[in-house]
Amino acid sequence: MLSYAETYQRRQPLRSRLMPLALTAVGLTAGLVSSQAMAVDSATLRLGHALHEDHVVARAYRHLADELEQRSDGSMQLRIFPNGQMGSTQDMMGQMQNGALDLVHASASNLESFDDVYSVFNLPYLFESQADFNEVVFGPIGEEIMQATRDKGFFAIGAYVAGYRSFYASKPIRTPADLEDMKIRVQSSPTTIRMIELMGGSPTPVAFSEVYSALQQGVVDGAENNVPSYVQTRHAELAQYFSEDQHTSVPDFLTVSTATWNRLDDEQQEILQKAVEDSEAYQKDLWDEVDQQSRQQAEEMGAEFVEVDKAAFQEAVQPLYEEYRENTGHAELLERIRDTEQEADQPQE
Ligand code: GCU
Repeated sequence: MLSYAETYQRRQPLRSRLMPLALTAVGLTAGLVSSQAMAVDSATLRLGHALHEDHVVARAYRHLADELEQRSDGSMQLRIFPNGQMGSTQDMMGQMQNGALDLVHASASNLESFDDVYSVFNLPYLFESQADFNEVVFGPIGEEIMQATRDKGFFAIGAYVAGYRSFYASKPIRTPADLEDMKIRVQSSPTTIRMIELMGGSPTPVAFSEVYSALQQGVVDGAENNVPSYVQTRHAELAQYFSEDQHTSVPDFLTVSTATWNRLDDEQQEILQKAVEDSEAYQKDLWDEVDQQSRQQAEEMGAEFVEVDKAAFQEAVQPLYEEYRENTGHAELLERIRDTEQEADQPQE
């Protein structure tokens, strides 16, 4: 099995191969004007996210800002608009498309409504281990998905780990039957909505920054997330039972506007790409550390971790796979993911 560092190393050549391709596209769309001619001497890029500033990925974006400045000797800067200052992720994706933002943070759940290619990452129990997640998300399949939306005005330039998501509420959820009559906050992902329906709950989309008050006011009876987010948002104070069914492992992405990318010259593109790669490695290490601390912090906040009948949840969501496979492209992608996971699980020589 490959470690994250090994997987990460393996991705570098692929990305370097993609770079000239991107530049060729720039040359073509600019009527073969050299991308150098379009260079800007200094670039301040604007990044929007709806995460609290303590969120592991928000911290990675600050690291990215430092890296960008350092690697460009100060000629490139990142201005971050955190905490949903610029609106919800959905709003910010719109702002990126009309040029007000250059980069936007979005989880694969948010991205599903912009391009169906991201729905795969919202399938429950897709990855058997973190190593399989790394192999797919940080390997050729992830890269292909990240590049797939270029003609829609954006693509993903970086990916971040986000652990396993489980349910939390003020009562334990040990089997799908416990979800009956419960309104569960979800991200705005059709696949996640269908997953909750199949499990027997009532999915209720709510923006991340509004979940605390939604729980407090009883707009929702529960939510689902990874342990660091459960703690960092202080949802643990309101929903003490964290029931570990570990239904999904949804990656986070940093998206960039295709127009912004094309406006940068070769060197600036490379600097940005390298700084993002650095922030990915930084976030991965930080994640492991914060994930471990978060369990303890959750318990200090009065939370209880509950063991569940995981097989019952897995069985409840099987129809979702059948529905997903009805689309030939989806079925093929799933097949490739399974092959990649199997290869990753072979003992290394
Ligand atoms: C996690 C994830 C965020 C996402 C959030 C949510 O914290 O890292 O990108 O927005 O979950 O549930 O909305």
